[in-house]
Amino acid sequence: MKYGIHGILILCLFASCSPRLPQAGLFIYREDDLFMSIVTQDILDVSQDRLDLQTEYGLNSQIIQNEQVEAMLEKDVPLMIVNPVDRLGAHALIRRMASEHVPVIFFNREPIPADLQLADNVWYVGARAEQSAVMQAQLAMKLFGDDPQNLNEYDRNGDGAIQVVILKGQQGHQDAEIRTTTVMESFRQAGYLLDVVGIEVANWTRDEGYERMEAVLDEKEGASLELVLSNNDAMALGAISILRQRGFFKDANGNGTVDRMDEDWIPVVGIDGVPEAVEHIEKGYLYGTVINDSLKIARAVVDLAETVLSGGNPLDLGLPIEGGKYIWVDYRPYTFPDNALM
Ligand code: GAL
Repeated sequence: MKYGIHGILILCLFASCSPRLPQAGLFIYREDDLFMSIVTQDILDVSQDRLDLQTEYGLNSQIIQNEQVEAMLEKDVPLMIVNPVDRLGAHALIRRMASEHVPVIFFNREPIPADLQLADNVWYVGARAEQSAVMQAQLAMKLFGDDPQNLNEYDRNGDGAIQVVILKGQQGHQDAEIRTTTVMESFRQAGYLLDVVGIEVANWTRDEGYERMEAVLDEKEGASLELVLSNNDAMALGAISILRQRGFFKDANGNGTVDRMDEDWIPVVGIDGVPEAVEHIEKGYLYGTVINDSLKIARAVVDLAETVLSGGNPLDLGLPIEGGKYIWVDYRPYTFPDNALM
């Protein structure tokens, strides 16, 4: 049917020509976190034409994030999507939003289970830190020959143990704590001898990954170093930068590529699967990563938000919701060319 320009003007008087999308607040713990910037972009992309998201970055301060949430409540925004600065900070946020009957979806940093039970309309979307660490350990064990009693040539000093540096994310962050303990435990349970040269806290960032790795190289000069396990890709990329400056990854056998056959190659394994890490894997610098599926996280967050805002039942989404509260997204390991990106 054709309305003509007058018809359209009359229609616009009765109904808004651009229908308003449902609003939600999106709160990210800080702006300069590599993985979180990717998740944020994925959420904004997926929510296009579906939700009107108001984004705020918390400058790594729970106090600031609380103020941002408060300001959004004052504007009557009907749902909040929160990546909390501090998992314990979720408690006060849940109580505050419940007092206003505002539903909240947490993601990536998991509140403690008791807090999720404080109110009905509270959910968590994320991945299980244990799973990422088990997969990271499996990737590394495969490289060392999958036989703890008979390590292959990557046991450079032939002592039957693996000299490892662990780059740890933020102290107290459950992903950092669980990834660090579980990756070591996985090796031990499989019968490997790990000789931990250092566990270095580098707060998820590339710069600190560089600095902490540099400190290890300086302090342990001459010591054997056979593996770097990083709680995330950003720190692994920082470690690779300083390792390259110190003579690793130089194509020792001169075959034209940096590869695992080079004596100056050292396995570094990350977690997240950010694009730059995938490139580093394909060029031979990073041995592998464990993909934290940002797009699946984004889709689950947006689908859930849209359903809740339209008064629907989250259980009808077709996603498993554990205990009515948790939507879990699986990690997957990635090396090249062993398992191509899916
Ligand atoms: C982790 C991720 C890290 C960092 C952290 C922030 O899940 O692997 O790279 O983004 O969350 O909380």
